[in-house]
Amino acid sequence: MKLFIDTADIDEIRTIARWGVLDGVTTNPSLFAKTSGMTYDEVLTEICKITSGPVSAEVVAEDVEGMLREGRHFAKLADNIYVKVPMSETGLEALARFRAEGIKTNCTLIFSANQGLLAAKAGANLLSPFVGRLDDINQDGMIVIRELVSIVEIHELESEVLAASIRHPLHVTQAALAGAHIATVPFKVFQQMVHHPLTEAGIAQFRRDWEKARAALEQAAAERAVAGAAGSRAGS
Ligand code: E4P
Repeated sequence: MKLFIDTADIDEIRTIARWGVLDGVTTNPSLFAKTSGMTYDEVLTEICKITSGPVSAEVVAEDVEGMLREGRHFAKLADNIYVKVPMSETGLEALARFRAEGIKTNCTLIFSANQGLLAAKAGANLLSPFVGRLDDINQDGMIVIRELVSIVEIHELESEVLAASIRHPLHVTQAALAGAHIATVPFKVFQQMVHHPLTEAGIAQFRRDWEKARAALEQAAAERAVAGAAGSRAGS
């Protein structure tokens, strides 16, 4: 499963790239609103310098021509831009038009397998079911991931299933087990995935034992030096 980071924060993206686990980036208007000082174009251009993997840029227009205008503009910023289009009647039409133009897309705000099926048929490269937002309303978001992965496999569709709205590490494990092609993960969840209390305790224990062993070796070397010096004094 590929791992994308779900953020528009350049420092967070750089950190995950340095970890060697970054396959792509998803942004949306809410994530962009958390950044400051740069335009959306500038943020996207900077992100595309950090990764050559897919970078999702979301349109805000709700009519087909507006979506096409915004998407064509994003697509010119870098080769790895994927235009993110919301699931809707106009969104489907825009996805089909983008496919005809060779512009890569990510259909967002998917909450059912049928919505995903339609997006795949319209030509979306990536299908983004929102797991966490379904969990929030007491529905099991992972069911949509499982269903959509099966539909894509059974019917040999070309789209990839991208588990979005990931809220905690268990979502990542479950998405991987469900066969999601990609999960887009917030920075905090990446950090939570790294840490485990037994790992931290193990590192501390190894450090303490290493220091103990080194101190014992130094002590033994010092005693040998003292004994050697005493021996040579006695022999002279
Ligand atoms: C990513 O493509 C989505 O926009 C994002 O995962 C939504 O996450 P949220 O439901 O936590 O806002």
